[in-house]
Amino acid sequence: MPYQTADRVGTFGTSIFAEMSRLAVEHKAINLGQGFPDFDGPEVVKEAAIAAIRAGENQYAVSWGQPALRRAVAQHSLRFHGQTFDPDTEITVTSGATEALCAAVLGLVNPGDEVIIFEPFYDCYVPNVLLAGGVPRYVPLHAPTADRPEWHFDPAELAAAFNARTRLLFLNTPHNPTGKVFAPAELAQIAALCVQWDVLALCDEVYEHLVYDGGKQQRLSAQPGMAERTISVSSSGKTFGFTGWKIGWAIARPDLTTAVRAAHQFITFATSTPMQTAAAAALALEDEYYQALAADYQARRDYLCAALAATGLRISVPQGTYFIMADITPLGYSDDVAFCRWLTTEVGVAAIPPTAFYADADKALGRTWARFAFCKRRETLERAVERLATLAKRA
Ligand SMILES: Cc1ncc(COP(=O)(O)O)c(C=O)c1O
Repeated sequence: MPYQTADRVGTFGTSIFAEMSRLAVEHKAINLGQGFPDFDGPEVVKEAAIAAIRAGENQYAVSWGQPALRRAVAQHSLRFHGQTFDPDTEITVTSGATEALCAAVLGLVNPGDEVIIFEPFYDCYVPNVLLAGGVPRYVPLHAPTADRPEWHFDPAELAAAFNARTRLLFLNTPHNPTGKVFAPAELAQIAALCVQWDVLALCDEVYEHLVYDGGKQQRLSAQPGMAERTISVSSSGKTFGFTGWKIGWAIARPDLTTAVRAAHQFITFATSTPMQTAAAAALALEDEYYQALAADYQARRDYLCAALAATGLRISVPQGTYFIMADITPLGYSDDVAFCRWLTTEVGVAAIPPTAFYADADKALGRTWARFAFCKRRETLERAVERLATLAKRA
C-alpha cells in the first residue's frame, strides 16, 4: 500500500503550471504559459553573484537577511515609495516572495481566522491559509465591461466579506493574472475596511516595476492607518529577470516582522548568501534600468496584445505584470481548460487556463478566459504569433 499524503496537504494537487509546461514540452509548443523570462537579467547582476561566490560568501546568511540586502531593500523603498524602514527591525529576506507570503501567513494567522482573497488569485495564497488553519473568504474581481473597462471589485461584495473573525487580506497589485493595477481610490476603500475591522494586509508586489502607460504601483501601506498593519512582499525575480534565484523580502513594522521572522527561521532559516549580495547590487541599479524595463515590457505587451486581438480573441489590455487575459468566447470556446489543451497540442502555443486561479465554487468566473505570458524574447513571441495567426481559421 502506498503511504498517504498528510491531510493538511492532501487536497493541494499538482499545479496547472506543471501540467501545461509538461504538455508544452510533449507537443513542442511555445510556452506562453508559465511566467518566467526566456532571457537573463543584467550582466552586472550576474557578475555580482559570481564575485560574491569567488569572494567566499558561501556559508549560511543571517537568518533574516544579509545586512547589505536589507539596507538595499530599505533604500529601494525610500527611492520608489518615499517610505522609510529600519533594515534591522522591519525587513526580512526570504526564499522568494513565495516564502515571505507563507511565513507571513504562518506567523500571523491563527486556526479559524478568516482571510480575504480576491479572485482570481495567485496559486500559493489558499494553500498558505489552509496550512495555517485559516478560512479563505473570496471576493471576485469582475471582468471588464463596456462601462468599466478594467477588472474591478464590487465595494459592497468586499465590505460583506469583512467580519469580526477576519484577520488578514491578501492584495496583489499589479495583479496576476488580470494585469490590474489597483487605483488609489480602490486602495482607499480597501484600507478603510481594514482599519474599520482591524485587519492586516499582506501585499504581494512582485510586479511593482512592471506597470505601463506611465502608471505607477501604489502601496496599500501608504494609505492612512495602513503602515502599522501591512506586510509588503516583493522579490528580485520579476524586476531583474532571475526568477530562479528566489530572493524575496517582507517589509513590515517591527511587531509584524517579529512574527514573519519567527516562521521564516523554521521554514528555511536563511536563503542563499551570494544571491543576496547580487540582489542588493540589482536593487541599486540606476533609475534608467527600471524605466527601460517597463518600456521594454510595454513593447512586448503591445505586440502580443495586437496579435491576439487579430486572431479574434477579446483582449483585456493589462496595466501591469507580464500577463494578458484573453476572452475565448469570440472563437466559440467556453471552457478554458479545453481551449488551452487544444491551443497547446494543435496550435503549438501553451497558455494557462485561469480557472486554476479560482476556488471550486467560483470557477465559472474564469472559464471563458486564457492567460498568455509575454515575458519572452521577441523571436519567441514572433514564432508564437505566427502559430496564433492560424487560430481563427482552425477554431
Ligand atoms: C503574484 C505572484 N506572487 C508571487 C510569485 C512568486 O514570486 P517568487 O518567485 O519571488 O517566489 C509570483 C510568480 O509568478 C507571482 O506571480
